[in-house]
Amino acid sequence: MKKVILLSIAVSIALSTVALAQKFHGLALTPPMGWNSWNTFACNVDEVLIREAADAIVTSGMKDAGYQYVVIDDCWHGKRDSLGFIHPDPQRFPSGMKALADYIHSKGLKFGIYSCAGEQTCAGYPGSRGHEYQDAITYAQWGVDYLKYDWCNTTGLNSVGAYTTMSKALRAAGRPIVFSLCEWGDTKPWEWAKEVGHLWRTTGDITDCFDCEVNHGSWSSWGILRTIEMRKGIRTAAGPDHWNDPDMMEVGKGMSQNEDRAHFSLWAMVAAPLMTGNDVRKMKKETIEILTNKEVIAVDQDSLGVQGLKYKDDEQGVEVWAKPLQGGDWAVCFLNRSEQKRTIEVEWSKIVIGDDVSKTVLNTNEAFFMVRDLWGKKNISDTKKKLLAVIATHDVLLVRLMKQ
Ligand code: GLA
Repeated sequence: MKKVILLSIAVSIALSTVALAQKFHGLALTPPMGWNSWNTFACNVDEVLIREAADAIVTSGMKDAGYQYVVIDDCWHGKRDSLGFIHPDPQRFPSGMKALADYIHSKGLKFGIYSCAGEQTCAGYPGSRGHEYQDAITYAQWGVDYLKYDWCNTTGLNSVGAYTTMSKALRAAGRPIVFSLCEWGDTKPWEWAKEVGHLWRTTGDITDCFDCEVNHGSWSSWGILRTIEMRKGIRTAAGPDHWNDPDMMEVGKGMSQNEDRAHFSLWAMVAAPLMTGNDVRKMKKETIEILTNKEVIAVDQDSLGVQGLKYKDDEQGVEVWAKPLQGGDWAVCFLNRSEQKRTIEVEWSKIVIGDDVSKTVLNTNEAFFMVRDLWGKKNISDTKKKLLAVIATHDVLLVRLMKQ
């Protein structure tokens, strides 16, 4: 009798594990890279824009640098038909979503779309509530590769249940689709979403300022530093196939070049998804240079998949961040938050950084490293020498310590 009970417990545990482990595994072993329409275009989306964005991602060199997903955010929707199937807005997307997906795929890129767990999206278009399986089938038929799934108009809904339902619906539809949760960190997805999706937003909406809060009444949007600081102690939740997502980027949207560089560096240091949010059709040379810096991207995309940590809090406005990399290298980022330029003096032998995720330690007394400046694109020193550097206001010195 006891054996039978034990066996049935074992079977039910096995079944519940299967029920939980529903997402398509292996679709985001490194943080997803791409472009999303929202930050610049909000509801002004149509198929011409999306095609032009795809073209620009190729011609600007972004595709070669690793950007893959072309994601239409909110407002692409038309109406549901009498059977409940969703259709794109016929005026804005007259060729239909399948044709748009085919075009994006023909460029060697992948196609992303947006929906919402509520009855309506944040901008008031039809959401997926009650239509999850039907929508997942539709997206699979269109050739969608990535779904961002929002959290507006969800009063009374349970986030774990709502996101799990969509995750299962995607799985059932059979097409591998990256599942990007967007409930702003309200219900701590880093604690429950690892088997549900591939990335989850950790914060409310970002905005294009370095360190500000923009109050919209019932909600706020947040500048770069506020966004990155908002959640503490969640870095251990990130890893290959399940990433903390501090939102789409604001690079190229009006901040200074220093601030854009610092923003991009921080996203790389915390292994954030690199979803650009600027108008990729009209980029300054400087913006392209930031977005396509392959050595900085390599820090973000490092296969060890460890989110970096803040090693030292603000000291005269300068913070130190560190990220262990595959093969024993480390990325170290000196961030000048202050309004003045700062001179830093680094004695590597005095810096010992332990990482409890990879269980590695940076200790230059035990290993020797070349110091490579990833924005200057040159080796500038080694860890036996003292490093002296001037960092402009709202800028960074980002180095890779290359183990010798
Ligand atoms: C929410 C999300 C944004 C964007 C808008 C669209 O605010 O957080 O990223 O998708 O909805 O309406």
